[in-house]
Amino acid sequence: MVARGLEGVVAGTTRLSSIIDGTLAYVGIEIDELAAHATYEEVVYLLYHGELPTRQQLAELQDQLAAQRALPEGIVQLLAAAPRAVPMDLLRTAVSALAWFETDPNSVERDVALAKGLRLVAQVPTIVATIGRLRRGLPPVVPPADEQSTARAFLRTLHDREPSDLEVEAMNKILVLHADHEFNASTFAARVVAATLADMHAAVTAAIAALKGPLHGGANAAVMQMLEEIGTPDRVEDYIKAKLTRKERIMGFGHRVYKGEDPRAKWLWDLSRRLGEARGDTRWYELSVAIAGVMQREKGLFPNVDFYAASVYHYLGIEKELMTPVFAASRISGWTAHILEQQADNRLIRPRAEYVGPTNRRYIPLDERG
Ligand code: COA
Repeated sequence: MVARGLEGVVAGTTRLSSIIDGTLAYVGIEIDELAAHATYEEVVYLLYHGELPTRQQLAELQDQLAAQRALPEGIVQLLAAAPRAVPMDLLRTAVSALAWFETDPNSVERDVALAKGLRLVAQVPTIVATIGRLRRGLPPVVPPADEQSTARAFLRTLHDREPSDLEVEAMNKILVLHADHEFNASTFAARVVAATLADMHAAVTAAIAALKGPLHGGANAAVMQMLEEIGTPDRVEDYIKAKLTRKERIMGFGHRVYKGEDPRAKWLWDLSRRLGEARGDTRWYELSVAIAGVMQREKGLFPNVDFYAASVYHYLGIEKELMTPVFAASRISGWTAHILEQQADNRLIRPRAEYVGPTNRRYIPLDERG
Protein backbone atom coordinates (compact mmCIF):
# COMPACT_ATOMS: atom_id res chain seq x y z
CA MET A 1 0.00 0.00 0.00
CA VAL A 2 1.35 3.42 -0.96
CA ALA A 3 1.19 6.05 1.82
CA ARG A 4 -0.94 8.85 0.35
CA GLY A 5 1.09 12.04 0.20
CA LEU A 6 4.05 9.95 1.42
CA GLU A 7 2.75 10.38 4.97
CA GLY A 8 5.16 8.90 7.51
CA VAL A 9 7.63 7.88 4.79
CA VAL A 10 11.27 8.57 5.69
CA ALA A 11 12.63 9.66 2.32
CA GLY A 12 16.25 10.37 3.22
CA THR A 13 18.60 11.49 5.96
CA THR A 14 19.56 14.97 7.14
CA ARG A 15 21.74 16.52 9.82
CA LEU A 16 20.03 19.91 9.56
CA SER A 17 16.74 19.79 11.42
CA SER A 18 14.64 17.24 13.24
CA ILE A 19 11.11 16.87 14.55
CA ILE A 20 11.21 14.30 17.35
CA ASP A 21 8.16 13.80 19.57
CA GLY A 22 6.77 17.14 18.41
CA THR A 23 9.99 19.02 19.22
CA LEU A 24 11.72 20.91 16.42
CA ALA A 25 15.50 21.35 16.57
CA TYR A 26 18.09 22.78 14.18
CA VAL A 27 21.26 20.64 14.29
CA GLY A 28 20.20 19.40 17.72
CA ILE A 29 19.38 22.79 19.27
CA GLU A 30 15.74 23.17 20.24
CA ILE A 31 13.80 25.85 18.40
CA ASP A 32 12.71 27.40 21.71
CA GLU A 33 16.32 28.15 22.64
CA LEU A 34 17.06 29.56 19.22
CA ALA A 35 13.89 31.67 19.12
CA ALA A 36 14.70 33.05 22.57
CA HIS A 37 18.38 33.85 22.02
CA ALA A 38 19.70 33.47 18.47
CA THR A 39 20.09 35.93 15.64
CA TYR A 40 19.08 34.71 12.20
CA GLU A 41 22.71 34.96 11.06
CA GLU A 42 23.74 32.53 13.82
CA VAL A 43 21.10 30.13 12.53
CA VAL A 44 22.35 30.48 8.96
CA TYR A 45 25.86 29.63 10.17
CA LEU A 46 24.55 26.70 12.19
CA LEU A 47 22.72 25.28 9.18
CA TYR A 48 25.68 25.79 6.86
CA HIS A 49 28.45 24.54 9.18
CA GLY A 50 26.73 22.40 11.82
CA GLU A 51 28.04 24.56 14.69
CA LEU A 52 27.19 27.92 16.20
CA PRO A 53 29.71 30.54 15.04
CA THR A 54 32.39 32.15 17.16
CA ARG A 55 32.16 35.94 17.40
CA GLN A 56 34.64 36.27 14.52
CA GLN A 57 32.93 33.69 12.32
CA LEU A 58 29.62 35.44 12.89
CA ALA A 59 31.06 38.84 12.01
CA GLU A 60 32.54 37.42 8.80
CA LEU A 61 29.22 35.87 7.78
CA GLN A 62 27.34 39.08 8.56
CA ASP A 63 29.81 41.06 6.45
CA GLN A 64 29.48 38.59 3.58
CA LEU A 65 25.70 38.79 3.66
CA ALA A 66 25.66 42.58 3.96
CA ALA A 67 28.05 42.97 1.02
CA GLN A 68 25.89 40.79 -1.25
CA ARG A 69 22.41 42.11 -0.49
CA ALA A 70 22.14 44.50 -3.42
CA LEU A 71 20.55 43.12 -6.60
CA PRO A 72 22.00 43.33 -10.10
CA GLU A 73 20.34 46.19 -11.97
CA GLY A 74 18.92 43.68 -14.47
CA ILE A 75 16.94 41.97 -11.71
CA VAL A 76 15.47 45.25 -10.47
CA GLN A 77 14.44 46.02 -14.07
CA LEU A 78 12.90 42.58 -14.43
CA LEU A 79 10.80 43.12 -11.29
CA ALA A 80 9.85 46.63 -12.38
CA ALA A 81 8.60 45.27 -15.73
CA ALA A 82 5.57 43.66 -14.04
CA PRO A 83 5.10 45.40 -10.68
CA ARG A 84 1.57 44.07 -10.17
CA ALA A 85 2.32 40.44 -11.03
CA VAL A 86 1.80 37.83 -8.30
CA PRO A 87 4.71 38.36 -5.84
CA MET A 88 5.54 34.64 -5.59
CA ASP A 89 5.71 34.47 -9.40
CA LEU A 90 8.02 37.49 -9.42
CA LEU A 91 10.22 35.97 -6.73
CA ARG A 92 10.41 32.62 -8.52
CA THR A 93 11.36 34.30 -11.80
CA ALA A 94 13.88 36.65 -10.18
CA VAL A 95 15.70 33.82 -8.40
CA SER A 96 15.80 31.83 -11.61
CA ALA A 97 17.13 34.89 -13.45
CA LEU A 98 19.85 35.49 -10.83
CA ALA A 99 21.57 32.43 -12.31
CA TRP A 100 22.33 34.56 -15.41
CA PHE A 101 24.67 36.67 -13.27
CA GLU A 102 26.69 33.75 -11.91
CA THR A 103 30.15 33.31 -13.44
CA ASP A 104 29.85 29.52 -13.18
CA PRO A 105 26.08 28.91 -13.42
CA ASN A 106 26.15 25.14 -13.90
CA SER A 107 28.75 24.33 -11.26
CA VAL A 108 27.75 22.19 -8.28
CA GLU A 109 31.30 22.14 -6.94
CA ARG A 110 31.25 22.61 -3.14
CA ASP A 111 32.88 26.05 -2.84
CA VAL A 112 30.96 27.46 -5.78
CA ALA A 113 27.65 26.06 -4.55
CA LEU A 114 28.25 27.36 -1.03
CA ALA A 115 28.98 30.85 -2.36
CA LYS A 116 25.83 30.73 -4.51
CA GLY A 117 23.77 29.62 -1.54
CA LEU A 118 24.96 32.44 0.70
CA ARG A 119 24.45 34.95 -2.09
CA LEU A 120 20.83 33.82 -2.32
CA VAL A 121 20.43 34.06 1.46
CA ALA A 122 21.54 37.70 1.10
CA GLN A 123 19.59 38.52 -2.08
CA VAL A 124 16.18 36.90 -1.56
CA PRO A 125 15.11 39.30 1.23
CA THR A 126 16.08 42.19 -1.04
CA ILE A 127 14.02 40.76 -3.91
CA VAL A 128 11.03 40.46 -1.57
CA ALA A 129 11.42 44.01 -0.24
CA THR A 130 11.82 45.34 -3.79
CA ILE A 131 8.66 43.54 -4.93
CA GLY A 132 6.86 45.05 -1.92
CA ARG A 133 7.92 48.58 -2.85
CA LEU A 134 7.24 48.30 -6.58
CA ARG A 135 3.75 46.93 -5.87
CA ARG A 136 2.95 50.09 -3.95
CA GLY A 137 4.34 52.30 -6.72
CA LEU A 138 7.38 53.23 -4.62
CA PRO A 139 10.97 53.35 -5.88
CA PRO A 140 13.21 50.46 -4.80
CA VAL A 141 15.64 51.10 -1.94
CA VAL A 142 19.22 49.87 -2.17
CA PRO A 143 19.75 47.66 0.92
CA PRO A 144 22.23 48.92 3.53
CA ALA A 145 25.66 47.38 2.88
CA ASP A 146 26.83 48.13 6.44
CA GLU A 147 23.91 46.57 8.33
CA GLN A 148 24.75 43.38 10.21
CA SER A 149 21.19 42.29 10.88
CA THR A 150 19.22 40.71 8.06
CA ALA A 151 16.00 41.52 9.92
CA ARG A 152 16.78 45.23 10.20
CA ALA A 153 18.13 45.44 6.65
CA PHE A 154 14.98 43.81 5.28
CA LEU A 155 12.62 46.16 7.13
CA ARG A 156 14.67 49.20 6.12
CA THR A 157 14.68 48.10 2.47
CA LEU A 158 10.94 47.45 2.53
CA HIS A 159 9.79 50.56 4.38
CA ASP A 160 12.64 53.04 3.82
CA ARG A 161 12.63 53.97 7.50
CA GLU A 162 14.39 52.87 10.67
CA PRO A 163 12.36 50.07 12.29
CA SER A 164 11.69 49.98 16.05
CA ASP A 165 13.58 47.54 18.28
CA LEU A 166 10.42 45.47 18.69
CA GLU A 167 9.93 45.29 14.92
CA VAL A 168 13.52 44.10 14.46
CA GLU A 169 13.12 41.54 17.25
CA ALA A 170 9.91 40.27 15.63
CA MET A 171 11.45 40.07 12.17
CA ASN A 172 14.51 38.27 13.53
CA LYS A 173 12.31 35.70 15.30
CA ILE A 174 10.27 35.20 12.13
CA LEU A 175 13.48 34.49 10.22
CA VAL A 176 14.73 32.08 12.91
CA LEU A 177 11.43 30.21 13.22
CA HIS A 178 10.95 29.72 9.47
CA ALA A 179 14.55 28.88 8.55
CA ASP A 180 14.29 25.11 8.27
CA HIS A 181 11.79 22.33 8.74
CA GLU A 182 13.11 18.93 7.76
CA PHE A 183 11.59 17.43 4.58
CA ASN A 184 8.71 19.88 4.06
CA ALA A 185 7.33 20.01 0.52
CA SER A 186 9.48 22.87 -0.81
CA THR A 187 12.70 21.55 0.72
CA PHE A 188 12.01 18.11 -0.66
CA ALA A 189 11.35 19.63 -4.10
CA ALA A 190 14.71 21.43 -3.85
CA ARG A 191 16.50 18.21 -2.95
CA VAL A 192 14.88 16.28 -5.82
CA VAL A 193 16.16 18.89 -8.28
CA ALA A 194 19.58 19.10 -6.62
CA ALA A 195 19.88 15.32 -6.81
CA THR A 196 19.81 15.51 -10.63
CA LEU A 197 22.97 17.67 -10.28
CA ALA A 198 21.14 20.70 -11.59
CA ASP A 199 22.53 23.88 -10.04
CA MET A 200 21.64 25.82 -6.86
CA HIS A 201 19.40 28.36 -8.60
CA ALA A 202 17.45 25.61 -10.40
CA ALA A 203 16.80 23.79 -7.12
CA VAL A 204 15.77 26.95 -5.25
CA THR A 205 13.44 27.93 -8.09
CA ALA A 206 11.66 24.58 -7.67
CA ALA A 207 11.41 25.17 -3.92
CA ILE A 208 9.78 28.56 -4.41
CA ALA A 209 7.29 27.01 -6.83
CA ALA A 210 6.34 24.45 -4.16
CA LEU A 211 6.12 27.02 -1.38
CA LYS A 212 3.51 29.03 -3.28
CA GLY A 213 0.61 26.64 -2.69
CA PRO A 214 -1.96 27.33 0.05
CA LEU A 215 -1.36 23.91 1.63
CA HIS A 216 2.24 24.98 2.26
CA GLY A 217 3.65 28.53 2.46
CA GLY A 218 0.63 30.14 0.85
CA ALA A 219 -1.35 29.48 4.03
CA ASN A 220 -0.20 32.70 5.75
CA ALA A 221 -1.78 34.91 3.07
CA ALA A 222 -4.91 32.76 3.19
CA VAL A 223 -5.07 33.30 6.98
CA MET A 224 -4.88 37.07 6.48
CA GLN A 225 -7.64 36.86 3.88
CA MET A 226 -9.77 35.02 6.44
CA LEU A 227 -9.03 37.56 9.19
CA GLU A 228 -10.12 40.35 6.85
CA GLU A 229 -13.29 38.49 5.87
CA ILE A 230 -14.25 37.91 9.50
CA GLY A 231 -13.45 41.47 10.54
CA THR A 232 -14.55 41.42 14.20
CA PRO A 233 -14.24 38.81 16.99
CA ASP A 234 -18.03 38.50 17.43
CA ARG A 235 -18.28 37.02 13.91
CA VAL A 236 -15.65 34.33 14.48
CA GLU A 237 -17.90 31.57 15.85
CA ASP A 238 -20.45 31.68 13.00
CA TYR A 239 -17.82 32.07 10.30
CA ILE A 240 -15.69 29.12 11.41
CA LYS A 241 -18.62 26.81 12.14
CA ALA A 242 -20.18 27.55 8.75
CA LYS A 243 -16.92 26.73 7.00
CA LEU A 244 -16.50 23.51 8.96
CA THR A 245 -20.09 22.49 8.15
CA ARG A 246 -19.25 22.94 4.47
CA LYS A 247 -16.19 20.73 5.10
CA GLU A 248 -13.87 23.57 4.16
CA ARG A 249 -10.38 23.83 5.63
CA ILE A 250 -9.44 26.59 7.99
CA MET A 251 -6.08 27.89 6.88
CA GLY A 252 -3.31 27.97 9.49
CA PHE A 253 -4.54 24.87 11.34
CA GLY A 254 -3.42 21.28 11.24
CA HIS A 255 -0.09 19.85 10.24
CA ARG A 256 1.18 16.71 8.56
CA VAL A 257 3.79 16.05 11.25
CA TYR A 258 2.66 17.89 14.40
CA LYS A 259 -0.47 16.33 15.78
CA GLY A 260 -0.24 18.48 18.93
CA GLU A 261 0.99 22.06 19.06
CA ASP A 262 3.37 23.41 16.45
CA PRO A 263 6.30 24.54 18.66
CA ARG A 264 6.76 27.69 16.56
CA ALA A 265 3.19 28.94 16.97
CA LYS A 266 3.47 30.20 20.56
CA TRP A 267 6.34 32.52 19.62
CA LEU A 268 4.28 34.08 16.88
CA TRP A 269 1.27 34.34 19.20
CA ASP A 270 3.45 36.30 21.63
CA LEU A 271 4.78 38.59 18.89
CA SER A 272 1.28 39.21 17.55
CA ARG A 273 0.13 40.28 21.02
CA ARG A 274 3.12 42.54 21.69
CA LEU A 275 3.13 44.16 18.25
CA GLY A 276 -0.63 44.70 18.45
CA GLU A 277 -0.27 46.37 21.83
CA ALA A 278 2.64 48.52 20.64
CA ARG A 279 0.58 49.69 17.68
CA GLY A 280 -2.53 50.23 19.74
CA ASP A 281 -4.45 47.86 17.45
CA THR A 282 -4.95 44.41 18.95
CA ARG A 283 -7.89 43.54 16.66
CA TRP A 284 -5.97 41.09 14.47
CA TYR A 285 -4.42 39.41 17.49
CA GLU A 286 -7.79 39.10 19.26
CA LEU A 287 -9.45 37.78 16.13
CA SER A 288 -6.72 35.15 15.80
CA VAL A 289 -7.03 34.05 19.44
CA ALA A 290 -10.80 33.71 19.05
CA ILE A 291 -10.42 31.56 15.91
CA ALA A 292 -7.87 29.33 17.65
CA GLY A 293 -10.32 28.80 20.52
CA VAL A 294 -13.13 27.72 18.21
CA MET A 295 -10.85 25.42 16.22
CA GLN A 296 -9.51 23.78 19.35
CA ARG A 297 -13.04 23.15 20.65
CA GLU A 298 -14.67 22.09 17.37
CA LYS A 299 -11.86 20.12 15.69
CA GLY A 300 -9.13 19.63 18.30
CA LEU A 301 -6.73 21.27 15.82
CA PHE A 302 -3.88 23.60 16.83
CA PRO A 303 -2.51 26.62 14.98
CA ASN A 304 0.52 25.94 12.80
CA VAL A 305 3.39 28.35 12.05
CA ASP A 306 1.37 30.25 9.46
CA PHE A 307 -1.57 31.17 11.67
CA TYR A 308 -0.20 33.86 14.01
CA ALA A 309 2.45 34.73 11.42
CA ALA A 310 -0.30 36.44 9.39
CA SER A 311 -1.14 39.02 12.06
CA VAL A 312 2.54 39.48 12.92
CA TYR A 313 3.34 40.28 9.29
CA HIS A 314 0.37 42.62 9.15
CA TYR A 315 1.62 44.52 12.20
CA LEU A 316 5.03 44.78 10.53
CA GLY A 317 3.42 46.51 7.56
CA ILE A 318 3.80 43.47 5.31
CA GLU A 319 0.81 43.21 3.02
CA LYS A 320 -1.02 39.93 2.47
CA GLU A 321 0.42 39.23 -0.98
CA LEU A 322 3.96 39.61 0.36
CA MET A 323 3.57 37.18 3.27
CA THR A 324 4.53 33.99 1.44
CA PRO A 325 7.56 35.67 -0.18
CA VAL A 326 8.68 36.73 3.32
CA PHE A 327 8.47 33.07 4.37
CA ALA A 328 10.80 32.34 1.42
CA ALA A 329 13.16 35.11 2.56
CA SER A 330 13.83 32.99 5.65
CA ARG A 331 13.47 29.45 4.28
CA ILE A 332 16.11 30.27 1.67
CA SER A 333 18.66 29.42 4.39
CA GLY A 334 17.18 25.96 4.95
CA TRP A 335 16.69 25.27 1.24
CA THR A 336 20.25 26.15 0.31
CA ALA A 337 21.68 24.20 3.28
CA HIS A 338 19.64 21.15 2.24
CA ILE A 339 20.82 21.50 -1.36
CA LEU A 340 24.45 21.59 -0.16
CA GLU A 341 23.78 18.54 2.03
CA GLN A 342 22.22 16.69 -0.90
CA GLN A 343 25.13 17.58 -3.19
CA ALA A 344 27.67 16.44 -0.58
CA ASP A 345 26.35 12.87 -0.59
CA ASN A 346 24.26 12.60 -3.71
CA ARG A 347 22.23 9.89 -5.27
CA LEU A 348 19.49 10.56 -7.84
CA ILE A 349 16.06 10.67 -6.16
CA ARG A 350 13.89 8.53 -8.38
CA PRO A 351 11.16 6.58 -6.60
CA ARG A 352 8.75 4.16 -8.24
CA ALA A 353 5.00 4.50 -8.77
CA GLU A 354 2.36 1.88 -8.20
CA TYR A 355 0.58 1.64 -11.55
CA VAL A 356 -3.21 1.67 -11.12
CA GLY A 357 -4.34 2.33 -14.72
CA PRO A 358 -5.73 -0.13 -17.29
CA THR A 359 -3.50 -2.86 -18.77
CA ASN A 360 -3.42 -5.06 -21.89
CA ARG A 361 -4.87 -2.49 -24.27
CA ARG A 362 -4.11 -2.27 -27.98
CA TYR A 363 -3.38 0.66 -30.23
CA ILE A 364 -6.52 1.40 -32.30
CA PRO A 365 -5.84 3.18 -35.60
CA LEU A 366 -7.28 6.70 -35.71
CA ASP A 367 -9.93 5.86 -38.40
CA GLU A 368 -11.32 3.00 -36.32
CA ARG A 369 -11.89 4.97 -33.13
CA GLY A 370 -15.52 5.72 -32.39
N1 COA B 1 -9.23 22.72 8.75
C1 COA B 1 -10.19 21.81 8.93
N2 COA B 1 -9.96 20.50 8.99
C2 COA B 1 -8.69 20.09 8.87
C3 COA B 1 -7.63 20.98 8.68
C4 COA B 1 -7.94 22.34 8.63
N3 COA B 1 -6.99 23.25 8.46
N4 COA B 1 -6.48 20.29 8.61
C5 COA B 1 -6.80 19.00 8.73
N5 COA B 1 -8.13 18.88 8.89
C6 COA B 1 -8.86 17.64 9.09
C7 COA B 1 -9.17 17.01 7.75
O1 COA B 1 -10.41 17.45 7.23
C8 COA B 1 -9.21 15.56 8.12
O2 COA B 1 -10.41 15.27 8.76
P1 COA B 1 -11.28 13.99 8.33
O3 COA B 1 -10.38 12.83 8.61
O4 COA B 1 -12.48 14.11 9.17
O5 COA B 1 -11.54 14.21 6.86
C9 COA B 1 -8.10 15.44 9.16
O6 COA B 1 -8.02 16.72 9.75
C10 COA B 1 -6.75 15.04 8.59
O7 COA B 1 -6.44 15.87 7.49
P2 COA B 1 -5.47 15.49 6.30
O8 COA B 1 -5.85 16.27 5.08
O9 COA B 1 -5.34 14.01 6.16
O10 COA B 1 -4.09 16.02 6.83
P3 COA B 1 -2.79 16.21 5.95
O11 COA B 1 -1.68 15.75 6.78
O12 COA B 1 -2.91 15.66 4.59
O13 COA B 1 -2.75 17.81 5.77
C11 COA B 1 -2.30 20.04 6.01
C12 COA B 1 -1.90 18.64 6.44
C13 COA B 1 -1.31 21.04 6.62
C14 COA B 1 -2.18 20.16 4.48
C15 COA B 1 -3.72 20.35 6.49
O14 COA B 1 -3.78 20.33 7.89
C16 COA B 1 -4.27 21.65 5.94
O15 COA B 1 -4.79 21.69 4.82
N6 COA B 1 -4.12 22.77 6.72
C17 COA B 1 -4.52 24.07 6.24
C18 COA B 1 -3.40 24.66 5.37
C19 COA B 1 -2.23 25.10 6.17
O16 COA B 1 -2.38 25.77 7.18
N7 COA B 1 -1.03 24.76 5.69
C20 COA B 1 0.20 25.17 6.32
C21 COA B 1 0.91 23.99 6.93
S1 COA B 1 2.30 24.51 7.88
